[in-house]
Amino acid sequence: MRKLYIAGNWKMNKTPSEAASFAKELAEKASDAKVKVMIAPTFVCLPDVVKAVKGTNVIVAAQNVNDHKSGAYTGEVSADMLKDIGVNTVILGHSERRQYYGETDEFINAKVLFALESGMDIVLCVGETLEERESGALEDVLKRQVSVGLSGVSAENMKKITIAYEPVWAIGTGKTATPADAEASHAFIRGVVKDIYGSDVAENTIIQYGGSVKPANVKELMAQPDIDGALVGGASLTLEQFLPIIHCVD
Ligand code: 13P
Repeated sequence: MRKLYIAGNWKMNKTPSEAASFAKELAEKASDAKVKVMIAPTFVCLPDVVKAVKGTNVIVAAQNVNDHKSGAYTGEVSADMLKDIGVNTVILGHSERRQYYGETDEFINAKVLFALESGMDIVLCVGETLEERESGALEDVLKRQVSVGLSGVSAENMKKITIAYEPVWAIGTGKTATPADAEASHAFIRGVVKDIYGSDVAENTIIQYGGSVKPANVKELMAQPDIDGALVGGASLTLEQFLPIIHCVD
């Protein structure tokens, strides 16, 4: 039985002081949550947010990490630095990183492998653009993103990987994939994982849905058999919206 995993990707929002007070209140109000809860603030917010949720069930993740141990990589942050401040989870391959910063599947894979070697848990994001969907390339794109993104990852390490399916056209647009469309993509992704790793790994892999998730649509999405959680953007920035999403299975 897969436990629901609800994550908030704050993207480039909230100052450190705003992030810390929000995180503290969230942790108090989510203490009885039946789901796994994660928030991903920006790098500069991480130390304060880690302190704010210490001893609670809220996981703090980074939104990116470099694929080297240390060295001359101006502007980058390493896995060791994150782990040193108590951050052991990272989101990789988000469509905004792919789209605006040119991250390829191969580059994302290098980060996945390095983050795993560093002992981190990963949320690996995949998802098609509207153009790819409309041209009939949906399955090819998902298969490539999943198989290249996970290339070289052992079956054992799949315990540390969550996949987030985020159709690019549904991110920040208010357009959610219908529960049936989302389920079809999730089932397809699970099939790709099964082809690579077999049924046991596929059945235990958490696949989150992301793209305009809100209190009004979360229950129907989470009721789909292959949707195991959500990666929430805009609606994770206010307690009014994020708490009902976290409590969607109460
Ligand atoms: P929205 O929920 O704002 O559509 O963002 C989804 C997302 O990109 C989460 O990573």
